[in-house]
Amino acid sequence: MSFFRTDGVAVVTGAAGGIGLAAANAFAEAGAAAVIFTDIQEDKVKANAEESKSFASNSDYKTAAYYMDVTDPKSVDDVIARVVTEFGRIDYLVNSAGVDTERYVPVPENDMEDYDRVMAVNTKGILITSRAVIKVMEKQEPRTFTKRNGTIRGLGRGVIVNVTSVLSFAAQPGKVAYITSKHAAIGMTKSLAMDVASKGIRVNAICPGWVNTPMHHTELQKIPQIIEFIKRAVPIGRVAEPEEIGENVVALCSPAGTYINGAPIIIDAGLTLTVNL
Ligand SMILES: NC(=O)c1ccc[n+]([C@@H]2O[C@H](COP(=O)([O-])OP(=O)(O)OC[C@H]3O[C@@H](n4cnc5c(N)ncnc54)[C@H](O)[C@@H]3O)[C@@H](O)[C@H]2O)c1
Repeated sequence: MSFFRTDGVAVVTGAAGGIGLAAANAFAEAGAAAVIFTDIQEDKVKANAEESKSFASNSDYKTAAYYMDVTDPKSVDDVIARVVTEFGRIDYLVNSAGVDTERYVPVPENDMEDYDRVMAVNTKGILITSRAVIKVMEKQEPRTFTKRNGTIRGLGRGVIVNVTSVLSFAAQPGKVAYITSKHAAIGMTKSLAMDVASKGIRVNAICPGWVNTPMHHTELQKIPQIIEFIKRAVPIGRVAEPEEIGENVVALCSPAGTYINGAPIIIDAGLTLTVNL
């Protein structure tokens, strides 16, 4: 359907696995002209990019994969420059790279070095990649979409989606670094949206509850009792599959999303609506 058309060029961070991989794959399935898989796990993104060719729906589909560390402006600038040389423009940026608090320890025993590490990836990393991509988006021609009655809707110059969390709104014991980083990422999303709206660039946040990814599997090892808690607290009694998040990232980037800007979109099957004990 043309109002879900996403046939531009997508760059995804954290695309080695989990939600980033699901979003990158959803772009390929939805008709993207190119999907660029980036992560610090280079072997995995190369394999993921290769695999995406088998289900991409655009007959001219192209893909690439790069090592890119979102905490390092030089690493990001180098990759973004290569993407522009190779693909000409960037229509969608998904900031999915993220790390969890290493050890769940309450304040004041929490580790301050770990705080800096988590903030560097989950919050500052969004700003570093967004700055680099906005410099590309602001110079490119806006795109349009022709509706069924022949009228034209502007699509703007690009869309950025930041993957934050329901922990952008709530807290969990022992995770001060992660929770602060995710709250701050919502403030950053709103601030970026205000700064670049006049350039025709939209910036939104997707805020998932628990998702079946490597990060969640590590969390389960730290607090196994969370399995029973999830069954009670999530009204439909289960975690999300990564595709259930990734497909909505793509929907936000599509023509259907043109009036959504600066918004935190909660995708949690109702987890945050209730204390369902
Ligand atoms: N899994 C969940 O339950 C859940 C819930 C809500 C939000 N999130 C958020 O979703 C995003 C994706 O997480 P996920 O669950 O897919 O976890 P994941 O661990 O599977 O994916 C995160 C990816 O980020 C990459 N990464 C880490 N540091 C990086 C860096 N400096 N530069 C580039 N890449 C880096 C990792 O290599 C990894 O591939 C994260 O921001 C996470 O906080 C996850």
